[in-house]
Amino acid sequence: MSAATKEIKRITTHTLQKMKASGEKISMLTAYDFSFARLFDEAGLDIILVGDSASNVMAGHETTLPITLDQMIYHAQSVVRGVSRALVVADLPFGAYQSNQDIALASAIRMMKEAGTHALKLEGGIEICDSVRKIVSAGIPVMGHLGLTPQSIYKFGTYTVRAKADAEADKLKSDALALQNAGAFGIVLEKIPANLAKEVSATLSIPTIGIGAGNGCDGQVLVMHDMLGINNEFNPRFVRKYLNLHQMISNAAKQYIGDVKSGSFPNVEESY
Ligand code: KIV
Repeated sequence: MSAATKEIKRITTHTLQKMKASGEKISMLTAYDFSFARLFDEAGLDIILVGDSASNVMAGHETTLPITLDQMIYHAQSVVRGVSRALVVADLPFGAYQSNQDIALASAIRMMKEAGTHALKLEGGIEICDSVRKIVSAGIPVMGHLGLTPQSIYKFGTYTVRAKADAEADKLKSDALALQNAGAFGIVLEKIPANLAKEVSATLSIPTIGIGAGNGCDGQVLVMHDMLGINNEFNPRFVRKYLNLHQMISNAAKQYIGDVKSGSFPNVEESY
């Protein structure tokens, strides 16, 4: 086999399990299109999440609730075409799995068949475990999502830290165990106290991926628009900005406008 045709070792749910066992942290970012998915995959990211945050950052909705299964499938198809190594996980959107197990399985099958993703993520604990079991028994890997679950924002009323009180922390711990027992291969823990996330991560045999959940998780996830600094109005403490793309893109667009207006673009070398 030549170097050019060398087979790329894909990340699977088993790879993630081994990473947890060896203490190697798991890296995960969201992506919603081909170009960014390819860049992240080439950079060596372990998991690419086609998040329903597409509803916010791609479509401009205030919450994740409006995005449809068809729209998520479109984003996931684009991402899958850009990826040759990372595990691609897609969110099942609000309304695609909550009604009953059969609807959940039908949505899961559509996403896997039409988009070619490798796994799915569903929000919720004990109340979705029957659906998780059903989807997993059809051979589809499922990731859970606990803590601040944005599809339930109207129940919570705010985006503040969840599970600070003992009762909610206890519920989160039993939800995590229930998801693991239902066959989930991993769980996203969003915006919960670091000590709680650390305890849950140590208790579970499956990996946890934190977002605003401290350093004790088995991996970390961020929304790509946040870590690239595309939106300068969203600055929660859990986001580390690796670029200030808002400024950079704004400057580039202003320079381009100036060059077009002044007639300096295109010049002779840029013309046929
Ligand atoms: O939709 C999303 O981007 C997510 C992450 C915040 C984990 O679920």
